[in-house]
Amino acid sequence: MNFNLTEEQLMIRDTARQFAEEELLPGVIDRDEEEEFPHEQIKKMGELGFMGMMVPEQWGGSGLDAISYVLAMTEISKIDASAAVVMSVNNSLVCWGLNEFGSTLQKEKYLKPLASGQKLGAFALSEPNAGSDASNQATSAVKNGENWIINGAKNWITNGQNADLYLVFASTDKVNKSHGISCFVVEKGAPGFTVLKKERKLGIRGSDTCSLGFTDVVVHQSAMIGKEGDGFRIAMQSLDGGRIGIASQALGIAKGALERALSYSKERKQFGQEISNFQAIQWKLAEMAMQTDAAELLIMRAASMKDEHKKYSRESAMCKLYASRNAVQVALEAIQIHGGYGYVKEYHVERMLRDAKITEIYEGTSEVQHIVIARDLIKNGY
Ligand code: CAA
Repeated sequence: MNFNLTEEQLMIRDTARQFAEEELLPGVIDRDEEEEFPHEQIKKMGELGFMGMMVPEQWGGSGLDAISYVLAMTEISKIDASAAVVMSVNNSLVCWGLNEFGSTLQKEKYLKPLASGQKLGAFALSEPNAGSDASNQATSAVKNGENWIINGAKNWITNGQNADLYLVFASTDKVNKSHGISCFVVEKGAPGFTVLKKERKLGIRGSDTCSLGFTDVVVHQSAMIGKEGDGFRIAMQSLDGGRIGIASQALGIAKGALERALSYSKERKQFGQEISNFQAIQWKLAEMAMQTDAAELLIMRAASMKDEHKKYSRESAMCKLYASRNAVQVALEAIQIHGGYGYVKEYHVERMLRDAKITEIYEGTSEVQHIVIARDLIKNGY
């Protein structure tokens, strides 16, 4: 097993780190407070090639591997988990599916602007009654000549307000449940398509999470991604990769919180000495570092398997489950090490805790990750 990063991977990590420190850090507390989307920063991330990292250059992307994507996601998430989820959804849930299942025409029309950062994408799978039970789609698409007519509602849609293009999943054949779901591209401004509500959230407050409404929205057959009935498989395969992205977000939050706790413990003096001299603090730091390293190793394994075109559903579920749990624990401990200062906004770690919690929920709850892991174990063995 080779743990060394290539020159190119190191360069990407360093570029992302520098960008995050210079461009994301200065306004991150205010954007969280004001629930303000990082428009300028996302535009620059597009220019740096961070919005379509794994898409071939031919289609506007950077043509990089999943390891590079993990490294960039981690660095962005260390500083601003809201900007990171915007990036993650565009990369792994929207661009990846279009590249994998889209036709040449669809790649030209939809993927190029998304991967190059000129446009932003959203992934509309969840519904009020189809969260973990994602195949229970109430949104329907009915064929009408060369068109499909979409009706229904979606919720918890990241980039809901700010996206230009939406991958929308809808039932085209109720009887066949998961095999009767299809995937369409819906463009912002399509008649009958509305952004209904922007949620007010505990964390990732710089990103927009919205409900969407579809009333007789007409899309042409050419906007169907893959074949009729392929939608659930497209969604699940996209989420296999998406979970690596969210695990990287969780890893970044944990690393950010650990770095802040470590440096604070070396500055803060109580009882006449730095608190890092106390065993109570040392044990916390040791645990935080060990668990964060373990999360990183699980993520790197899943990303390597993705790069090697192996099946990696189990491994991506494992890394997301582990890294998200760790992010919450590490952020909590970082607050504890900061004492009262950890509870106020200026020291960042309270935001990290609020941001960490969602990584245990979106792109499949921790409970869903257990299902994916256990089913794969039972079917294929350990
Ligand atoms: N790859 C390919 N095919 C897959 C697959 C995968 N990873 N997972 C399932 N499938 C296939 C199955 O093989 C099966 O096909 P066959 O019938 O031919 O065998 C079919 O899909 C149905 O699979 P299941 O029977 O396993 O489906 P299920 O209804 O039991 O659901 C589940 C399984 C794992 C619970 C799934 O519904 C799931 O992942 N739920 C969570 C959904 C989720 O993650 N939502 C996130 C929303 S997006 C989001 O949060 C983004 C954001 O904005 C940040």
